Amino acid sequence: MIVEADKPMIKLSPSILAADFSCIAPQLTALKNGGAHYVHLDIMDGHFVPNISIGPPVVAALRKHTDLVFDVHLMIANPKEYIERFVSAGADIITFHTEACWHPDEVMRIIDMVHARGKKVGISIKPDTAIQSILRFVPHVDMVLIMSVYPGFGGQGFIAESLWRARQLRDFANKIGKDLDIEMDGGITTDNVRDLLDAGVNVIVAGSDIFNGGSIEAATQGFISIFEEHMRAN
Ligand code: DX5
Ligand code: ZN
Repeated sequence: MIVEADKPMIKLSPSILAADFSCIAPQLTALKNGGAHYVHLDIMDGHFVPNISIGPPVVAALRKHTDLVFDVHLMIANPKEYIERFVSAGADIITFHTEACWHPDEVMRIIDMVHARGKKVGISIKPDTAIQSILRFVPHVDMVLIMSVYPGFGGQGFIAESLWRARQLRDFANKIGKDLDIEMDGGITTDNVRDLLDAGVNVIVAGSDIFNGGSIEAATQGFISIFEEHMRAN
């Protein structure tokens, strides 16, 4: 028998990688006023990905300026060693890459570590990692983040095959009756986001399209209106 999971709520997780880092606080306020649910924090170590961004001290500093959920995306080698530091800095959801783990047991250990600290956990895969390689972990996680660009940089073009990957994962989650959050990250705009929602993605990351120099609040609202329209139609 196929048990259909409840339809998960659609959430917006703006990535501040594209924000102006010299004055983040008012931009966090604009995200909140525009209706964002999360703030997506991209953590890059110059090793797992060829770029360096921010670490726990910056996350802790930002924590004082907003009550939005901190959706921390670790693009780092050896994630196990840093979980505690990001939890202490104020992460609410911690997502790590399975490609950064040497063994499936390590993936499970990190999932358990994050849950033991009372936080949500996600696993992420790059565009060329097979969905099948993570299905065994799906019953144990809160979220799966499917990268729709090669991680490391904002402002890249959306990889269209990602839609089919999300559909496969949503079908699998439905089949096992799992209320799974499926997040997608990279190259997402108000022009292509409807296709993602149709494919079963329910947590949307957007960087450049929100922090493009115009009104952050209006850009955030633009995504939220599309979500509302989608929920009314489905
Ligand atoms: C890429 C990051 C993304 C990125 C999204 O490695 O994980 O979160 O900042 O930015 P855009 O929306 O510009 O692709
Ligand atoms: Zn990200």
